[in-house]
Amino acid sequence: MPRGIFITFEGLDGSGKTTQIKRLAAWMQKRGLDPVVTRQPGGTATGERIRTLLLESSSSQIASMTELALMFADRAQAVGEVINPALAAGKVVLCDRFTDSTEAYQGGGRELGSELVLALHQIVCGDLQPDLTLLLLPPLKASLARARHRNERAAEQTGKDENRFEQEQDAFYSRVWNKYRAIGSRESERVVLIEGNLNIDEVCEQVVKAVSERLVLREAPSSNLPNGLEGL
Ligand code: TMP
Repeated sequence: MPRGIFITFEGLDGSGKTTQIKRLAAWMQKRGLDPVVTRQPGGTATGERIRTLLLESSSSQIASMTELALMFADRAQAVGEVINPALAAGKVVLCDRFTDSTEAYQGGGRELGSELVLALHQIVCGDLQPDLTLLLLPPLKASLARARHRNERAAEQTGKDENRFEQEQDAFYSRVWNKYRAIGSRESERVVLIEGNLNIDEVCEQVVKAVSERLVLREAPSSNLPNGLEGL
């Protein structure tokens, strides 16, 4: 059984990742693929508990190093329970955030540096890397305004409070933004940067284009991929 395909989505809060993942998953399903969709933090029962601890605004005393360790605790569980088994079964995995988020937020935003994050990645995930990363970077201000608004609305409607990161200052998000751009330049083979003031359909078009081009190229011509992927 050939290994499946690991695609991650990255970007600032409010960049529209979650909508785009849903769209891509639907697009793949129409073509006979059955992608596994997951997210970090979260995506497993243990991970969802870690997510609550990390994102609730009442967790304001979490030290940066604790935050970093919790992100990797969540990831260890997700890799073992969801990602590796799905890839071993030849599936496509669509993951909302992965280690690039840790490098951008904890490495950049919290100023813990890339080196530590990449060393932990090696310990926790070994050589596991996404085959393709879609990095969505709409303008910083618009992205943050959307994330803050969305979380306030969710808190009103469901009582769910995932506001801790959105309460960070703009300087924090500028560091996250810069680190994302640095990752995009360093890993230009893997990371496709989708930036600018695009609407949902325009972003979706670019996502589908990147997925089609990169994955067909990577696997062609002697592919044994699941039915439908050759037709992407
Ligand atoms: P999201 O699920 O709405 O994208 O939000 C998750 C939040 O967690 C977001 O603010 C980014 C943050 N985060 C990190 O700081 N480091 C990480 O490694 C991950 C996966 C997420």
